[in-house]
Amino acid sequence: MFPVTYRRDEQNRIFIGGAAVKDLAESYGTPLYVLDYATMLQRIRQFQSALDEMAPQGRAFYAGKAFLSKAMAGFLNENHWGLDVVSGGELYTAIQAGFDMGNIVFHGNVKTAEEIETALCHHVGYVVADSLDELSLLNETARKLDVRAPVLLRLTPGIEAHTHAFIRTGQFDSKFGFAMQDGIHDEAVSVALSLPYLQLKGFHAHIGSQIFDEDPFIHNAQRLMEFMAELWEQRGFWPEVLDIGGGFGVQYTPTDDPPDITRVLLEVNQRVQAMTPRGCHSPEILIEPGRAIVAEAGITVYQVHATKVVPGGRHYVAVDGGMGDNIRPALYQAAYTAQVDGKPLERLNAYTVAGRYCESGDILISQASLAPVEVGDYLVVFGTGAYNYAMSSNYNRVPRPAVVLVSEGQQRVWVKRETYQDLLAQDLPWHGLA
Ligand SMILES: Cc1ncc(COP(=O)(O)O)c(C=O)c1O
Repeated sequence: MFPVTYRRDEQNRIFIGGAAVKDLAESYGTPLYVLDYATMLQRIRQFQSALDEMAPQGRAFYAGKAFLSKAMAGFLNENHWGLDVVSGGELYTAIQAGFDMGNIVFHGNVKTAEEIETALCHHVGYVVADSLDELSLLNETARKLDVRAPVLLRLTPGIEAHTHAFIRTGQFDSKFGFAMQDGIHDEAVSVALSLPYLQLKGFHAHIGSQIFDEDPFIHNAQRLMEFMAELWEQRGFWPEVLDIGGGFGVQYTPTDDPPDITRVLLEVNQRVQAMTPRGCHSPEILIEPGRAIVAEAGITVYQVHATKVVPGGRHYVAVDGGMGDNIRPALYQAAYTAQVDGKPLERLNAYTVAGRYCESGDILISQASLAPVEVGDYLVVFGTGAYNYAMSSNYNRVPRPAVVLVSEGQQRVWVKRETYQDLLAQDLPWHGLA
C-alpha cells in the first residue's frame, strides 16, 4: 500500500524517497504525483528473480498503459525490461525515449494502418493480433514493407477473474481477442498460418486486472498450453512464446490481499514445462505487469481547501485535485487510503474526500479515516502510481499535475506541471465564418 521508503518522523511528517511531502508540495505545487524509485526497482527485481528461474528464462513487458512517460521508458530500458504499448502515442513515446524496439509488444483491439506501419518499420518484438480484420491489415502492411510481421494471437480463454467488470477481460464475451470457443481461435490460427507475411510466434491471454487469486493465472496458462498441445497434435505447429499478460493485484487498502507473485510465476512455469509435448521446447513465458510495478510506488499530494459538515450527513474535505488526476473512484469505485501530513495516526474521524471538479461524482475517497483535517493541510493519497496520470484529463480546464521521481533525497521531474498556455496550445481563436 505504501512506497517502500515511506516513513513518518516524530512530528508525523511523511517522507517518501527521503523527501518530506511538505517540501515536495512547496517546491512543485499541488496536486503532485510522486513516484518512489526504490519501490519500482524492488517490484521489477521481484518479478525478474522469478523469471530468471524459468527455463527458458521468462521475459517481462511492462504495461505502459499503467503509466508511461519518456523517463519511465528510459528507466525500463536501463533495467532491460520490455514494454507493452497499445497505441501510436505509446509507441511514439518509446521511439522518442530511444527504447530498444525489439523489446516491445504492440497490443490493442484497434490499431490503425499507420500505427502498424510504424511498429513494423521500427521492428517491434511482437504485434498482438486481436481480430481477423487486423490479421489481414497486418499481412498487407508487412507485404508493402516486405517484412514478415512477428505475431501473437490474443485469445480469451473463458476464465472469469473476480475483479471489477470494467477491468475483466478473460471471459469469452469480450471486446478483446479471439474467443477459445466454437473454433474461433482455430480459425484465427489457420488464417495467421496461411498469410505469407506473418510469422505466428505464439499466444497471448490477459484475463483482467487487480486480480488477487493465484488460481486464475495458473488456469490461464494451463488452458493455453492445452490448446497448444492440440495444435501440435493436429497441425504439427508449436509456438515459441506464451504470453500470460498482467493483472497482478496490489494493495490499495488494508483489506486488499495481493497474490504471491513468485509463487504464481513458478507454478505457471512448472505447469508449462510439464505440459510441453515430448520433442518440443517449452515456450518462452512473457508477462505484462503494469499496476504491480508502479501503483504502490506512487502517491498524490493534495492541499485541503475547504472542510464542511452536513448536519445528519457527511464530513467533507475538499482538495485541489480529483477526477481529473484520478478518475478511478468515479469510473469503477476504486478505493484508496489517505493520511494527513504532520498529524498523528490517532483520533481518526470519518471523512469524505471530495475533488474540485464540477461533478457530484467527483469523490476521491468516500470513507477516509483521517486525523482532524484543517484547511491548508497536505493530504497524501497512496497507491496512485498506476492508471492515475495515465488516465488524467483536462476536465474543467484544469492543468495536469507534475510527476516527480524521488530517490534517497534526490528528485527528478519526470513530467512537468501543465500550464494554462499548455491548455490553449491547440486552441485557435474565433475568426467568424464569412
Ligand atoms: C493486454 C494487457 N496486458 C497487461 C495489462 C496490464 O494490467 P495490470 O496493470 O493490471 O498489470 C493490461 C491491462 O489492461 C492489458 O490489457
